[in-house]
Amino acid sequence: MRFYLAPLAEITSKEFRLLCYEGGADVCYSEMISARAVTLRNKKTIGLSEIDSREPETYLQFFGGEPEVIKEAAEKILSLVTPAGVDLNAGCPVRKVVASHAGSQLMEDPKRLGEIVKALRSVTNLPLSVKIRKGFKHPSYLECAFAAQENGADFLICHPRLRTEMFSGVSDFSVSVELAEKLRIPVIHSGDIHSPDDLKFFENSNIYGIMVGRAALGRPWIFDELKGMTVTEERKREMMRKHFQYYLDLNDKFGHTMIRRHASWYSTGKTGSAEFRNSVFSPANDISAVVEMINRFFGLHL
Ligand SMILES: Cc1cc2nc3c(=O)[nH]c(=O)nc-3n(C[C@H](O)[C@H](O)[C@H](O)COP(=O)(O)O)c2cc1C
Repeated sequence: MRFYLAPLAEITSKEFRLLCYEGGADVCYSEMISARAVTLRNKKTIGLSEIDSREPETYLQFFGGEPEVIKEAAEKILSLVTPAGVDLNAGCPVRKVVASHAGSQLMEDPKRLGEIVKALRSVTNLPLSVKIRKGFKHPSYLECAFAAQENGADFLICHPRLRTEMFSGVSDFSVSVELAEKLRIPVIHSGDIHSPDDLKFFENSNIYGIMVGRAALGRPWIFDELKGMTVTEERKREMMRKHFQYYLDLNDKFGHTMIRRHASWYSTGKTGSAEFRNSVFSPANDISAVVEMINRFFGLHL
């Protein structure tokens, strides 16, 4: 079984991905990259495609509703970077994305989804994945998965919730298992995996891999835990130190915001975390004050 870090908008930057590799992830996904913005030469969007040379197997994820636009964007990005593979986002539930016929809106239109996969396939021989949901308002995962497979996808990722469910409740693991039985290409499940116990459902199934998103926040070592390893407190602290140091080295607003956000996630479940979180996000505390708080709270030496 292979373990994947899920694409998480504004979170799965190269710094966090490096940590997740160290924590046992086999493959990591970038956050979604707007194909339209790439074609408009938006520098910030193009910057999202950067991959650190130490990353072993990182996929870049694109979203867009028009085959020609996705094609142009992928060509542009692939002339700048060579990721391990590319992915099409057919699951994003955000209104603005859906309004542009992209993300989970593609679950309503398997034909268009197929055309976009075909367009991506025409520009690269790199491994190509498609990340779907269970459907938009109603299940459409089978039609969409077959459209992806028939148009050249090498594997499929399924986050089995309807768009209307957003992130509520628990994802429907049985949908991923069904897809893994029916498709020719490998299927990866994404959704609500927190501990090795959650993997039991997939024993004796054809599931090829497991993708972890929210559970990796404040716990980038979860991949090793899912593989059955025990992660010592000392190793956790060392990973945290490294993680914060990556962002400190950036010495910019993005790095400072990420330090606050990740500090908050790392504090989850620890005594005094609510108070710590309030202080970390308080505009009254500048980054050096925040670093001091982090050192005190986690026993680090940044
Ligand atoms: C904050 C956040 C950002 C996300 N961003 C993306 C994204 O950019 N692309 C994507 O395909 N899915 C995105 N997702 C969905 C996740 O990749 C994943 O499928 C979903 O969270 C279920 O997995 P989990 O329970 O392990 O988090 C995002 C989810 C969250 C919570």
